[in-house]
Amino acid sequence: MSQPLRVACIGCGLRAEIYMASAPHVPMMRVQAHADVRLDSADRFLERFGGEYATTDVQRVLHDPNVDAVIISTWHDTHTAFAVEAARSGKHVLLEKPMALTIDECWRIEEAAGRAGITLCVGLKMRFMPIVRKVHALVPAPVLLTGQMMNDRVPDASWSLQPGIGGGTVVGAGCHTADLLCYLAGAAPVEVYACGSNAVHKTDGLTDTLAGSIKFANGVVASLVHGDPGRNPYASTFFCQVFGLNSGACLYDRYRRATLWGLGQSALGVVDLDETERADVEGDTALLQHFVDCALNRRPCEVGAREGRLATTLMVKMLESLRSGQPQQIEADWRSHYG
Ligand SMILES: NC(=O)c1ccc[n+]([C@@H]2O[C@H](COP(=O)([O-])OP(=O)(O)OC[C@H]3O[C@@H](n4cnc5c(N)ncnc54)[C@H](O)[C@@H]3O)[C@@H](O)[C@H]2O)c1
Repeated sequence: MSQPLRVACIGCGLRAEIYMASAPHVPMMRVQAHADVRLDSADRFLERFGGEYATTDVQRVLHDPNVDAVIISTWHDTHTAFAVEAARSGKHVLLEKPMALTIDECWRIEEAAGRAGITLCVGLKMRFMPIVRKVHALVPAPVLLTGQMMNDRVPDASWSLQPGIGGGTVVGAGCHTADLLCYLAGAAPVEVYACGSNAVHKTDGLTDTLAGSIKFANGVVASLVHGDPGRNPYASTFFCQVFGLNSGACLYDRYRRATLWGLGQSALGVVDLDETERADVEGDTALLQHFVDCALNRRPCEVGAREGRLATTLMVKMLESLRSGQPQQIEADWRSHYG
């Protein structure tokens, strides 16, 4: 029996709390340490979730020989430096989405992880939601997709909207829908086009509503809509349609339910899930379990550096498209040159 993966949190906020609450359901993971710029946050995690120490010194966990892996759930501007240093220090990394705010930063992280031979997993959890996985299995070859994330208004003062820190929600959260569409399409994206506006928040130059389209290498086309003007209670925050030929699915209720057609059953819901899936409808435990499995058993990660980079790339290129008025091409693979 192998040793458990000893994991430290970097960033002890809302997202890390969800991972820590899932940790007891991931048997081969041991919580080792907690780091945050705010000592009270790290201390609170130590008290609630256990571990050896809490610290404000991120370098301490990055270079601690008793730490095998880190979960990086900090503000977006810090992702690249922490992930690159963790990889160079030989730690496996579960990096929260977005992988980074720019495409070049994503390449830097991917290259550092590749050179170090560590497992890098990006927190793009939608693929791990049980209803999403079932719909993908039922409609494995769609012809057209739509994906939407429409949130209640994010407070103007939120770090996620600050240009140099969170970068806005189009890249910061839209990457979830981008990755979901890549997963459902089953091919690499090749081109995007988008228009958008600064309609909700006062921040100058911030695109906060976006309507985009994606073309995939296998001919699938998708639309992606993102914003926070207020949630539509009928569709819910997450809403997606998968059109096959004469069959398909409409996912709603934060992807806890789907309406089906042409598939021999008319709906999917929590009643169709087993006990483990029912306890994890958001896919958080499944994602954490997958990361730990991949790190311990040296398996490729389903949401690795390539998927994280593509999700950021799609959203960054959509912003470039709306600025230029032109479609933008997507580089899926050709720049990978490490080894
Ligand atoms: N996958 C998901 O569904 C999901 C959901 C929510 C948030 N997120 C992502 O998780 C990450 C964190 O978001 P959150 O909502 O938990 O934010 P948060 O503000 O609640 O937590 C972030 C924590 O990081 C700490 N921090 C910031 N900069 C730091 C630094 N330089 N060194 C050490 N600690 C630092 C903050 O003090 C804070 O405690 C973001 O990448 C966000 O996009 C993912």
